[in-house]
Amino acid sequence: MDPLTPIPALPDLPRRRLLLGSAALLAAPPFLRDARAQSRLALTPAQTEGPFYPVELPADSDADLLVQGAQRYAKGRPAWLDGVVTDAAGRPVRGAVVEIWQCDADGHYHHPGDGGRADPAFQGFGRTSVAADGSYRFRTMRPVAYSGRTPHIHVKVRLGSRELLTTQLYVEGEPLNERDGLWRRLDAAGRAALTVPFRAGTGGDALRARFPIVVAA
Ligand SMILES: [Fe+2]
Repeated sequence: MDPLTPIPALPDLPRRRLLLGSAALLAAPPFLRDARAQSRLALTPAQTEGPFYPVELPADSDADLLVQGAQRYAKGRPAWLDGVVTDAAGRPVRGAVVEIWQCDADGHYHHPGDGGRADPAFQGFGRTSVAADGSYRFRTMRPVAYSGRTPHIHVKVRLGSRELLTTQLYVEGEPLNERDGLWRRLDAAGRAALTVPFRAGTGGDALRARFPIVVAA
């Protein structure tokens, strides 16, 4: 074909594909349909927000918690936290906003209820919009323990004015998990969903943790 010859239009192709797809689904034997239903992803379990969600968001509330305005935070173990926000069918949740908040390396939150003792160089709270593929990424530090709690990072997912999820993220292999009331309350599937490894990365000394989030959107 001459490269300048217009390609014939196929106006009804998508519709035909759709119809064929529907027919194939209806034709599937019941056990196959059941298997497809069961392949839906489990929703990430919710947990309590706790008392330290910021009363006022910091002026710098981006996805890098180790830089607060002009200050750099050098305590703790730097870590990347990334993942993808999807619905139960595995589709990215476009427009979702992920927030995290955690205490500084000395166990203090930026919150009046924690006495204003948090290090001003640690951002403590970050917020980011997911990319078109649902992915998000924060630079923060491996969470640390504070009185009565195993290391954890608080996580919230919003979509517009809706809160889709509030939960907490734990560190795999952390011995204090077994003594933490909120972690112990989770069943085996919940512990598996919310407890992730913070592994040494290939570049620099930053750890990397991957936390996939599944929400009803
Ligand atoms: Fe907390």
